[in-house]
Amino acid sequence: MTYLLTKNLHMLTAVITISGFIVRGFWMMTGSEKLQHRVARVAPHIVDTILLVSGVAMLVMLSLNPFTEAWLLAKLIGLLAYIGLGTVAIRRGPTLQIRLLGFVGAVSAFAYIVGVALSKSPASWLAYLS
Ligand code: HEM
Repeated sequence: MTYLLTKNLHMLTAVITISGFIVRGFWMMTGSEKLQHRVARVAPHIVDTILLVSGVAMLVMLSLNPFTEAWLLAKLIGLLAYIGLGTVAIRRGPTLQIRLLGFVGAVSAFAYIVGVALSKSPASWLAYLS
């Protein structure tokens, strides 16, 4: 019961983080001032923290070790890439071109992570080809 709730919370925050990121990406591309709004600055940190904490909670409940399960390590690295590229896209990128590259990279990292989560393989979506 607790596990199922945690897993649903994890999947819900995964949907919220990518939806919010795409909206902020749109505001970045259109130069909208909404990007500077307090909610737009703080909410992603809260959502990403819940996503990570629920993931770690499931690791504990399932007694899984991310350093022996390759797909979990791939997810953690993917999450770091998603967050790092995301900050380039929204804030750190010095030019629009670099911010757009950051945006495409972050969305790709996210798609990779979802493939890893579903296939339980670091090969992500490619695992379905074999
Ligand atoms: C952007 C980051 C992430 C996304 C989009 C994501 C997405 C998902 C999804 C869609 C599932 C359900 C897969 C299924 O149907 O079985 C899942 C399960 C899971 N995730 Fe994540 N996840 C992310 C980050 C993480 C992180 C960082 C960890 C570990 C620290 C983690 C640990 C887990 C675990 C343990 C499960 C349960 C697998 C099972 O029930 O067999 N996730 N994740």
